[in-house]
Amino acid sequence: MKAKKIVIGNWKMSPHTRGEAKSLFDSVKKKVTSVKKTNVVVCPPFVFLGMLAGSLRSKNISLGGQDVFYKSRGSHTGEVSADMLSDSRAEYVIVGHSERRALGEDDEIVAKKAIQAVTDGLSVIICIGEDKRDESGKYLSVLSEELKNSLYKFPQQHLNKLIVAYEPIWAIGKTTFDAMSPADIEGTVIFIRKTLSLMYGKERASTIPIIYGGSVTVGNAKSLITDGGISGFLVGHESLIASNFNEIISIVEHA
Ligand code: 13P
Repeated sequence: MKAKKIVIGNWKMSPHTRGEAKSLFDSVKKKVTSVKKTNVVVCPPFVFLGMLAGSLRSKNISLGGQDVFYKSRGSHTGEVSADMLSDSRAEYVIVGHSERRALGEDDEIVAKKAIQAVTDGLSVIICIGEDKRDESGKYLSVLSEELKNSLYKFPQQHLNKLIVAYEPIWAIGKTTFDAMSPADIEGTVIFIRKTLSLMYGKERASTIPIIYGGSVTVGNAKSLITDGGISGFLVGHESLIASNFNEIISIVEHA
């Protein structure tokens, strides 16, 4: 059976009220009733998870956290554990997003978070991406180092719960025309897959979904999913506009 495609909405620090969060989520829930070939995941701010979980009845949509702490217990003000996420019915968690790395989170912390989350039963979306591209190709070693270090000691028996999200930092939060080109995404995905093959062997590496994030919009989703060699998207600002996010889901579903 062909692996399902994946569309993940990263709501970041939005929307600003419970009411808006609920109506956005309700609209996506309605959409996914007709979706069969795509896993849809919504990652809201922590404070909305419990409320949205209460109305989560569909098998076609899952919740995810935007971050997690690397310890399961203890006095850690402000942190949220993987157990708490699971208890709020989150099945996924984003780890190592560039916006968290910009606040000081390094590969070592990312690796510890990934291990804790996957050990506690969550599927882990590991984010990697270069901040700029250079003609000599140095960004490729930046990417492979980031990937290797972020997956340091990742338990291999849980590789089926790993998703790699490639998000070039320079392409995040912009417009349709600022996303990376499908051809460049395809080339980078091949490189990431090669790095994963060196880490885990070709066969296992071939089963790890690689998705793209960075200004994915209704306007570019079709060409990116058709020609980018990816398994899906990690969508930022367009996931906050229900009709656009739903359209992106349709595009992936029918690609
Ligand atoms: P945008 O889709 O807003 O570029 O954000 C991408 C992203 O960072 C998703 O995690």
